[in-house]
Amino acid sequence: MNLSGKNILITGASTGIGYELALQLADYNCNLILTARRKELLDALSDKIRSKCKVVFYQSDVSNSEDTRDTYKKIINEFGSIDIAILNAGVDQKTRVNNFNVDDAVRTMGVNFFGLVNWIELLLPVFMKEKRGMIVGVTSLADAKGFPGSGYYCASKAAASHLLESIRVDLKKYNIKVITVKPGFVKTPMTDRNEFQMPFLMDVDRAVKIMIKGIIKEKSVIEFPFVTSMSTKILKCMPYSLFEFLFSRELKKRKS
Ligand SMILES: NC(=O)c1ccc[n+]([C@@H]2O[C@H](COP(=O)([O-])OP(=O)(O)OC[C@H]3O[C@@H](n4cnc5c(N)ncnc54)[C@H](OP(=O)(O)O)[C@@H]3O)[C@@H](O)[C@H]2O)c1
Repeated sequence: MNLSGKNILITGASTGIGYELALQLADYNCNLILTARRKELLDALSDKIRSKCKVVFYQSDVSNSEDTRDTYKKIINEFGSIDIAILNAGVDQKTRVNNFNVDDAVRTMGVNFFGLVNWIELLLPVFMKEKRGMIVGVTSLADAKGFPGSGYYCASKAAASHLLESIRVDLKKYNIKVITVKPGFVKTPMTDRNEFQMPFLMDVDRAVKIMIKGIIKEKSVIEFPFVTSMSTKILKCMPYSLFEFLFSRELKKRKS
């Protein structure tokens, strides 16, 4: 995929991976459409890259279908079309069993799963009619298992990964490419809040370089870093009892 001249949507562009994607993609002669809820951060980012590429930003909440529809209409009025949609917005809501509640679960699914669904619903009719387009969904290597303390997050990312895997095949005959990006730990405001040691924590600059390379190559799944990706594959095949033993031990270590 040649990115030059393409209209690229990035959701969740105000910080972290989305922000870095905008910074790096600005060097690829493409037009950038940035969204997030914090308008002032998008404004500052747009000022930073405006000399390199055409950029517009919209304050928009991916979990709100009406808001997403309004944003889509504005984008189409301004740009005519979207070529590549990088659906990156996400939240990491910790799951505390002593404060288990539906609101946190709905919020997490609302952004990490329905945030993708809301955008894909709008993108598909035009993409299918024109037999073109690329959907890049950022999920996580945490989609592989239900990791302790991350129940809502893992469930939301597994749902998103399965959705993308399923429609990838359905959309092949329409020439629409669906890419799933599964990062391991990447240093961003999201992981800065973690109090535990994160194995193979990667710089956001490097993570985004890998993502862009994978998008250009049109890889179906972009997962990194290699060791974390291999480890999650092993964890997935592991007997349930061994998984429980290893993670109970890990939790004890974190507490001590
Ligand atoms: N960092 C990691 O280690 C890691 C690992 C695996 C997967 N991921 C995934 O990578 C993606 C980016 O995460 P990050 O690490 O860059 O985290 P981050 O720095 O916290 O960025 C999250 C982005 O999502 C946006 N966002 C959150 N809720 C939103 C909503 N309701 N509507 C629109 N935008 C919303 C935030 O902007 P506003 O708050 O301004 O709306 C922000 O721009 C997420 O999907 C995350 O799950 C991250």
